[in-house]
Amino acid sequence: MQGDGDELPADLEEALAGVRSVGVITGAGISAESGVPTYRGVGGVYDDPDEGDRVVEALSGSTLVRDPDRTWRAVTALARMTVDAAPNEAHRALVRMERALDRFVILTQNVDGLHHLAGSGQIIDIHGDVLATRCMRCDETGRLSRAEVAELEATPPCLACGSHLRPDAVLFGEMLPQKKVYRMQEAFYVDPPELVLVVGTSALFPYIAAPVVDAVREGRPTVEINPEPTSLSALVRWSLRGPAGSWLPRVAEALGTSVP
Ligand code: OAD
Ligand code: ZN
Repeated sequence: MQGDGDELPADLEEALAGVRSVGVITGAGISAESGVPTYRGVGGVYDDPDEGDRVVEALSGSTLVRDPDRTWRAVTALARMTVDAAPNEAHRALVRMERALDRFVILTQNVDGLHHLAGSGQIIDIHGDVLATRCMRCDETGRLSRAEVAELEATPPCLACGSHLRPDAVLFGEMLPQKKVYRMQEAFYVDPPELVLVVGTSALFPYIAAPVVDAVREGRPTVEINPEPTSLSALVRWSLRGPAGSWLPRVAEALGTSVP
């Protein structure tokens, strides 16, 4: 295990130099340095045992059907926390990696849209995006600005049919979108990347941990970046302990990319 401020381990630096294809899995921790709260851990959205439970309930598929205003209030509260958030050094390092490599993909659980804002192209946002909307009746899709979501006071209406819009994100108790599941399978199993990098996620969901476990089983190199140990820390070949904003630029550089 490496701590923050250390150099990359020499064997990792050596391994990175030859790599041409990378799959990155990201979670809330990559946006922490942009001021976006994580879900779990100190200061996380689910940190307060009572309020945390209420947030989970409000952000569930069953509440959306029963009381869409309540779901939208929770979404609005989250959007207010992120309305001024801008991509950080970690998001930018991933943009440089994508430009320098032959193949690159980000599988993100984040709904904050910061990978997209930073300029990354190959993104599978498996949990969707809080700014994307879908009509609950006519399926019309659309997009709100972060300021618009932050100012919402009730469920926004569909401009096409007048019914209710929903956030086009995966809520608790809902299925993952099938097309994105196929893209994830294609990217991580059918034609797997040489190296799997997992950044800023507690990796609690099986479909998030699985590509890492698969790479470990096949002997492909794996790297985790996280200030805290997770269930993956003991499995991965390299565990870089510290914030994404300090480690990812070093990893990007070792992959043959240069800081502009
Ligand atoms: P979590 O809040 O569970 O975990 C955040 C992780 O980021 C933790 O492991 C932290 O140690 C780590 N972390 C904190 N600061 C960091 C930093 N500066 N650099 C790197 N890592 C840092 O968030 P996720 O794993 O993304 O789902 O949570 C997964 C899913 O659970 C979310 O997508 C959401 C939630 O329920 C849905 O909304 C469907
Ligand atoms: Zn509609």
